[in-house]
Amino acid sequence: MLNIVIFGAPGSGKGTQSELIIKEYGLDHISTGDVLRAEMKNETELGKIAKDYIEKGQLVPDDLIVNMLAKVLDSKANSKGVIFDGFPRTIPQAKALKAMLNERGTDVSVMLNLQVDEDELVKRLLERGKVSGRSDDNLETIKSRLEVYHKQTAPLADYYVGEGKHVAIQGMGTIEEIFGRIKKAIDAVNK
Ligand code: AP5
Ligand code: MG
Repeated sequence: MLNIVIFGAPGSGKGTQSELIIKEYGLDHISTGDVLRAEMKNETELGKIAKDYIEKGQLVPDDLIVNMLAKVLDSKANSKGVIFDGFPRTIPQAKALKAMLNERGTDVSVMLNLQVDEDELVKRLLERGKVSGRSDDNLETIKSRLEVYHKQTAPLADYYVGEGKHVAIQGMGTIEEIFGRIKKAIDAVNK
């Protein structure tokens, strides 16, 4: 299986590039943010809990996310591979992912770390906020999402360096230029 972790700050292009990767490689996509937003829309128990965290720009607790992910992963049992978007975001989540994949006889193939300047992240998210309807695309929540990213999530890059899976991707430029860099990184592990 070709299992890709797409990683980066809020607004770095994880969702945008995931769509292109899916088309090119025929993978399944799991975005924990999208799953949580669907739970919120359906007003499930998980959705109600998640809402408070998401609107403050904070992370939803690891145990809730890991349980949720295990269920989604089971629904993709016959997949050629999965692109994990917005997960893992903490070391416990990364360890849980490794354990879940190992149990299924597979592992993370590569972690793509999108590098985007802070000014550009804020610009992209404010622009998207005009049309997205996302309750976290406002300046105050964007600031806390970026802070949480730097404190809690960015350190995860070192975990994947240790696993020998980390590839930094220059995430500035046009969507096509960035996708070209991503393809090179995927093709290097998908021989
Ligand atoms: P999540 O939904 O994952 O949001 P995020 O990480 O903040 O990232 P975004 O989805 O905002 O950005 P993106 O990197 O996908 O960029 P996109 O392609 O859209 O998580 C939301 C919340 O859910 C979290 O804050 C947390 O509360 C909770 N959560 C989720 N997962 C969790 C987990 N594992 N553990 C705990 N809590 C969790 O691009 C952004 C914009 O830029 C778009 O408008 C796009 O069109 C534009 N754009 C993209 N590329 C370019 C480019 N090259 N040039 C110009 N514009 C571009
Ligand atoms: Mg996204």
